[in-house]
Amino acid sequence: MSEGRKSAPKAPAGVDTEKPSAARIYDWYLGGSQNWAVDREFGKRAVEVFPHARELARQNRDFLGRLVQAALDAGIRQFLDLGSGVPTVGNVHEIVRDNLPAGERASVVYVDYEPVAVAHSTVLLEQDGATDWAGLVQADLRHVDAVLKHRTTRQLLDFGQPVCLLLIGVLHFIGGDDRPEEIVARYRGRLAPGSWLAVSHFTDENLPPEDAAAVHELAEAYQRTSNPLWVRRRAEIESWFGGWPMVEPGLVPPADWRADRPLNRAERRARPFGWCGAAERPR
Ligand SMILES: C[S@@+](CC[C@H](N)C(=O)[O-])C[C@H]1O[C@@H](n2cnc3c(N)ncnc32)[C@H](O)[C@@H]1O
Repeated sequence: MSEGRKSAPKAPAGVDTEKPSAARIYDWYLGGSQNWAVDREFGKRAVEVFPHARELARQNRDFLGRLVQAALDAGIRQFLDLGSGVPTVGNVHEIVRDNLPAGERASVVYVDYEPVAVAHSTVLLEQDGATDWAGLVQADLRHVDAVLKHRTTRQLLDFGQPVCLLLIGVLHFIGGDDRPEEIVARYRGRLAPGSWLAVSHFTDENLPPEDAAAVHELAEAYQRTSNPLWVRRRAEIESWFGGWPMVEPGLVPPADWRADRPLNRAERRARPFGWCGAAERPR
């Protein structure tokens, strides 16, 4: 998709109130208040074109919650959340704080390049009194060294120990010419055995023609935002895990990943439009 463009635009220089941004549109999909009129107008048009947008955002967010819990259960205590977004309910540091076994320590690094996401994440970490174990890096995730060598990353994360690297709902904002496979491979290369790499991504695969057409129309609409959208298929997404074994249940729609309840009709309708999963670096 985004046929006219092959790579994502540069990181925003400041808050752009003229153009909708993925961070603020997603906040609107999830019912948040950190969005401008331009984002809300875009969101309303997006839902007309693709009625499942808000439900799919919720399913993606719920997947993130179950994934972080599963990584904690597997003993991982460090989280690097790339494209972390405007904080909403169930942020990674909150899930970690609420579920960490008593007496244990953990650390979380958020990375985003969108100024509204950065400002609100910073305030939330301060309000939560979490700044000694959770931090934020304002960076373009394509600049792998800038993320990994950032003072906050180095202070909070020990790459000699397992890290859960999260790329949730973000790689579809990275174009083919940005070489997502090389970006992910560079992060993967830094992860210790026992680390997890988790991804979720928008797809047009296995859909009836009218649903596939709606996906393409949505991607077309995102061309006019700060974050053009690229739709991809299973085989390409799977290749980013570098052959590491997938943790159960493999690459599945977000609503299916360790689902904890049956889906209602609207949830079932939104279910097929994404792929998600996590893989573990062999020990
Ligand atoms: C749809 S939101 C996903 C938020 C969160 N990961 C989740 O799944 O709930 C995508 C986020 O990725 C960020 N993003 C997009 N491209 C990025 C890039 N190249 N570097 C850093 N952040 C990026 C956007 O600013 C936005 O906040």
